[in-house]
Amino acid sequence: MSKNPSQPEIETMPFFEAFKKIKRLKLFEPYVSVLGFFLLTVSVICCFFYLDFRAVNKGFQLSSQSERFMWLQTNGLSEDQRVEYLGEKGGDCDVFEGEWVWDESYPLYQSKDCNFLDDGFRCSENGRRDLFYTKWRWQPKSCNLPRFDAKLMLEKLRNKRLVFVGDSIGRNQWESLLCMLSSAVPNKDSIYEVNGSPITKHKGFLVFKFKDFNCTVEYYRAPFLVLQSRPPAGVAQNIKTTLKLDQMDWTSDRWIDADMLVFNTGHWWNYEKTIRGGCYFQEGAEVKMDMKVEDAYRRSMETVVHWMDNMINPTKTQVFFRTYAPVHFRGGDWRTGGNCHLETMPEIGSSLVPSENWVQFKIANTVLSAHLNTSKAKNLKLLNVTRMTARRKDGHSSIYYLRPNMVPVPLHRQDCSHWCLPGVPDTWNELLYALILKHEATGK
Ligand SMILES: *[C@@H]1O[C@H](CO)[C@@H](O)[C@H](O)[C@H]1NC(C)=O
Ligand SMILES: *[C@@H]1O[C@H](CO)[C@@H](O)[C@H](O)[C@H]1NC(C)=O
Ligand SMILES: *[C@@H]1O[C@H](CO)[C@@H](O)[C@H](O)[C@H]1NC(C)=O
Repeated sequence: MSKNPSQPEIETMPFFEAFKKIKRLKLFEPYVSVLGFFLLTVSVICCFFYLDFRAVNKGFQLSSQSERFMWLQTNGLSEDQRVEYLGEKGGDCDVFEGEWVWDESYPLYQSKDCNFLDDGFRCSENGRRDLFYTKWRWQPKSCNLPRFDAKLMLEKLRNKRLVFVGDSIGRNQWESLLCMLSSAVPNKDSIYEVNGSPITKHKGFLVFKFKDFNCTVEYYRAPFLVLQSRPPAGVAQNIKTTLKLDQMDWTSDRWIDADMLVFNTGHWWNYEKTIRGGCYFQEGAEVKMDMKVEDAYRRSMETVVHWMDNMINPTKTQVFFRTYAPVHFRGGDWRTGGNCHLETMPEIGSSLVPSENWVQFKIANTVLSAHLNTSKAKNLKLLNVTRMTARRKDGHSSIYYLRPNMVPVPLHRQDCSHWCLPGVPDTWNELLYALILKHEATGK
């Protein structure tokens, strides 16, 4: 999963060289970070002029170098030339194809104002000084998204249950939505966990109620989506647990009749988190000792899709599947000192995104795409965020996942999987919001 650490194309550019130097210093010097911000602003403005100049000189034969800056031009369409996604003509727009654009009006909330965040996501409170990562808005190529309106979303959720099911990246997204929604609720005491449980990492599920709207926003921890439990009696001792590839997680009874379901999975479907820890794969009564993780993942996705087809009430429940959120460990993985703490800018241009690394994305996408093609999939939507998210190497918690009064985080123990909040998962929720409104407006 680790990324190719050498990216000579970018490094040869003087602007980025200078920026990188500033970036390194910035960890220690607050005024240097102010200067860095100033230089960035100037550079961005210069880039616009530079691009204009080139476009005039060369027509539209942009060289490969300036193509990397296309994100600043947002593909030649200005915002008011695009159709509104929620409007009549917005129907065909692929909202997952687009660019990250700088937007001063972001972020949508501050972590210090939100009681629903794990410490691990509170990067700026944990000492992260650059706040660029909070300022990027997702701009689809051929349409405009509605601006997130927390009040309106809460109205849409009135008397309903919105449920997230998946791994801790799903939890990351769920907490993001709690913050986004609660920003519109003045009386924070009216939002509470129905069992009085605190936000901690170790709870199997948490159900937050917004009292004034009689709605709940829930999270169920089910990193594999299918059932992980004891192995059958009499198997070899090294088999500690098995994943029942043909059964859903035991909590599925609780989320089966939610009004909106948001699934994710992928990060646990690897050797380290399964077989190495004594977790093998099981179908029926048989433990499949030789089954590869990829095959097991595919089997489990088929079970999920089958379950959606047969157990979900399509007139009640809207199902979303958020695709894999790439990790960004450079020079190693999470165990071997991989890092991402010097990343302060998104990847420029999608050509640099190493899509061949997305095994988990491809497996799930293959099963889901085939299913989306069938008539049974009317109430299933993909939150197809993998590619857009892959560009956001700047958005991870890295070394800012512990409160500053704790021991300092060692540089070789970085979190380049989870995301700072406010940050990238807010965008996934803005897309979720847009899809929910679209569904309501058109039934599609
Ligand atoms: C509150 O929402 C639940 C569904 O989550 C519904 O069954 C119940 O009737 C609602 N209560 C009121 C007072 O509308
Ligand atoms: C989707 O369905 C169409 C016709 O119904 C078929 O031609 C196409 O190959 C299918 N695509 C996939 C990915 O199954
Ligand atoms: C999701 O996006 C990827 C590119 O990022 C694309 O290849 C894939 O076809 C998309 N899936 C669906 C179902 O639209």
